Amino acid sequence: MKVAVAAEADPSEPRVAATPETVKKMIGLGAEVAVQPGAGIKSGILDADYTAAGAAVSADALRGADIVLQVRRPAAGQLAGVQKGALVLAIMDPYGNDAALKSLADAGVVAFAMELMPRITRAQSMDVLSSQANLAGYRAVIDASAEYGRAFPMMMTAAGTVPAARVFIMGVGVAGLQAIATARRLGAVVTATDVRPATKEQVESLGAKFLAVEDEEFKNAQTAGGYAKEMSKDYQAKQAALVAEHIKKQDVVITTALIPGRPAPKLVSKEMVASMKPGSVLVDLAVERGGNVEGAVAGQVADVGGVKIVGFTNVAGRLAASASALYSKNLLTFLEILVDKKEKKLAVNWDDEIVKATALTRDGAVVHPNFLPKSAA
Ligand code: NAI
Repeated sequence: MKVAVAAEADPSEPRVAATPETVKKMIGLGAEVAVQPGAGIKSGILDADYTAAGAAVSADALRGADIVLQVRRPAAGQLAGVQKGALVLAIMDPYGNDAALKSLADAGVVAFAMELMPRITRAQSMDVLSSQANLAGYRAVIDASAEYGRAFPMMMTAAGTVPAARVFIMGVGVAGLQAIATARRLGAVVTATDVRPATKEQVESLGAKFLAVEDEEFKNAQTAGGYAKEMSKDYQAKQAALVAEHIKKQDVVITTALIPGRPAPKLVSKEMVASMKPGSVLVDLAVERGGNVEGAVAGQVADVGGVKIVGFTNVAGRLAASASALYSKNLLTFLEILVDKKEKKLAVNWDDEIVKATALTRDGAVVHPNFLPKSAA
């Protein structure tokens, strides 16, 4: 069982899909592990660290691989030389990328999209969206505080009092909850909103105040999978009015709202941005999916009339070492269910709901029901 850890092709991706710790564990599972040179360097892991953990370091690591571990979807060309039927584990970004899925199918690999992990207890430790969103939520607050020209906590000093920053978190999933907790730790006064009713209690349990239009639609706004639904135009208008009044008084707004497979909902209009005091800061964690904030620019800090809109991409990657450690662990726990631990060889149970939910391609075709080519669907 040959496992290859690929160096990321995208130079803006600092994360890596295995750490020396997970390499040791994979060897324990019976794998031979090969790592491409420099794969871990941006996460603070040297080639020598992988070697010390028992891996081979080689530019040819993917040749003959049965399993390829990556952060991002590999280009089909990157997979030349892997075994036919090799398993490729990565964040595949499958929505709207039909051509890329087809080329993975054509490459003859089994591509697993780690972000499609079902939200069931057994898969919690394999959930890359959670592990990365948690770090992004933390980092969003740190980035906001770095851009904000004032302190977060209230400080009473001989020279006068610094008031506590008012921080508003929009979208209280994994990232939003960590953002609330981090902003609270820094001493901010925190409010938060979400369309899923279950979040109200979570917000309050972290010592923040919940704000939302709590009508009938709100009470039913959660899917069985635990995700948000797209809200009606009417609800969005009511919510926008409530938010508009609130946002004027905020110093920092952090938006994290996403709907799986859909563009991010627009939550903060340019009028709302203009209503904020100069020096205020917005951080849009949804910027890569279209953005929650009007005027957010991916990869930049935009200055709109003295209000800063932070649009950093790959925010978990801004904590590359932590993000890689957690991501690698997610991959390892997933790999453990694909391997027969006694026989020390691959043994994929294609009927396992975790496998079915994440496998995109197999035997030369796209097999995931959400991404079947139009003619087959
Ligand atoms: P997400 O990243 O898909 O979305 C972030 C947040 O944005 C969500 O809370 C969503 O409700 C909110 N949102 C969407 N549209 C909005 C709008 N118009 N206005 C305001 N907020 C809006 O969500 P994430 O972080 O992946 O978590 C979703 C849920 O899944 C959470 O309840 C989480 O606790 C649960 N979960 C369960 C797991 C398990 O059981 N294995 C693992 C991870 C998360």
